[in-house]
Amino acid sequence: MNSQELLKARAYEETKGAQIRGEDRPAFHLTPRAGWMNDPNGFSYYKGMYHMFYQYYPYKPFWGPMHWGHAVSTDLLHWTYLPAALAPDRLFDSKGCFSGSALTLPDGRHLLMYTGVSEEQQEDGRVKDIQTQCLAVGDGENYDKYEQNPVLTVKDLPEGCSRFDFRDPKIWREEDGSYSCVAVGCDESHDGRAMLFTSGDGFDWHFRSELAVNGKRFGRMWECPDFFALDGKQLLIVSPQDMLAQGLEIASGNGVICLMGSYDRERAAFTEESVQVVDYGIDFYAPQTLETPDGRRVMVGWMQNWDTSSLHSEQDPWFGQLTLPRELSIRDGRLIQKPVRELEQLRRNPVSYQDVTVSGACRLDGVRGRRVELELSVSPREENFSLFEIRFAEDERFHTAVRYRPSVSELEVDRRYSGTRRALIHQRTFSVLGDPGKISLRVILDRFSAEIFVNDGEQTVTTTIYTDQTADGISFYADGAVRMDLNKYDIE
Ligand code: FRU
Repeated sequence: MNSQELLKARAYEETKGAQIRGEDRPAFHLTPRAGWMNDPNGFSYYKGMYHMFYQYYPYKPFWGPMHWGHAVSTDLLHWTYLPAALAPDRLFDSKGCFSGSALTLPDGRHLLMYTGVSEEQQEDGRVKDIQTQCLAVGDGENYDKYEQNPVLTVKDLPEGCSRFDFRDPKIWREEDGSYSCVAVGCDESHDGRAMLFTSGDGFDWHFRSELAVNGKRFGRMWECPDFFALDGKQLLIVSPQDMLAQGLEIASGNGVICLMGSYDRERAAFTEESVQVVDYGIDFYAPQTLETPDGRRVMVGWMQNWDTSSLHSEQDPWFGQLTLPRELSIRDGRLIQKPVRELEQLRRNPVSYQDVTVSGACRLDGVRGRRVELELSVSPREENFSLFEIRFAEDERFHTAVRYRPSVSELEVDRRYSGTRRALIHQRTFSVLGDPGKISLRVILDRFSAEIFVNDGEQTVTTTIYTDQTADGISFYADGAVRMDLNKYDIE
């Protein structure tokens, strides 16, 4: 039975959502039907469709008591909204339905597992929010919360784990038909950890093991874990809060890291071998993956940064976008990300330039737009080449730039002139891997964002931009001379 709270949210989003014009949203990235969006949730393939749920507050473009918004797609790029799936309407989730995941039960029902946030009076009389894991079961549109919620509470956790930070379950089905889930927590010092839970039927859950403990290395509390096998390795992806910058590898604030290693399923033990940052841009957080019916591991993140998510206007019709779905693989021990191959089907009006010399500033006929894909590769024409830059969302006043400095092998994204009136984070610089002097970039623009895949997906850079849509110029610049090959497509 749908509650009053859910029916109210559904009625509101239907009216509000219909008032937002198509051209005021990105064309192939998901935004909330109305109001606010954060993390992707319940990313799954169910009854022949991809389902995407998301952290959602329909009534304002700001974070509020969390609902789950809902959309479906057949190609991972064009999304159709369905009515909101969950509202905070029970004692166990009265303060919000936080992040979680989904899978198909053997009887064909869709199972959602999410974090219920509720209030609990403390011994000192203060009321604080506590977090537990809850279930809901449905048919792809309407979901009933499980009568025995919550199914995991602090009582299930090892000694010393916090009841205030225990969240974001990611579930999957094991080959033997049992269920597992990874969720995050922390101790009293706020040190994050990822924990494994198991269940025979998907409803009765027990703690199994601690998969990884932060040990104060990467931020404090961890959020939104994912745990899966890929190309012979086991990956644990987590989003640490409050990281401290480390060289050019890790930026301060909330970010995403991938711990790569091996997994002994019998002992439920993960052995960490290496750690890398997942995206070197400004706006990437809380990703979640699924396995497609044809066996691809695809990841989608929240295309935002918590530190810059409360500075916009109450008047904005929506806030928050999800990234492009990205196909994951491992090459030379690194996590590789590429836009889902479905994107190639949306390419129109190809324009191609081979062996162009860029020296100083340069524009090319037919190369402009805000819903475009650029594939370019650059190599030195002259030895003294010291800078290559591509500018997009450009007019006399605005531009966003990606700059490559071959002498130090650094790449920088710079959105200082992207239409923001606030002192947001505007720049990020990181060390690029690959051959010094040579770089290939795949740049995907969709009205309000740029996603850049460097050297065939070896590193990615994601940033939102707020530039007026009339600024649609694209230009190139080099100090010294470079040779450039370029393919450009409109994405429709
Ligand atoms: C991550 C996060 C999650 C939580 C959700 C609340 O962005 O903080 O840990 O479940 O957002 O909206």
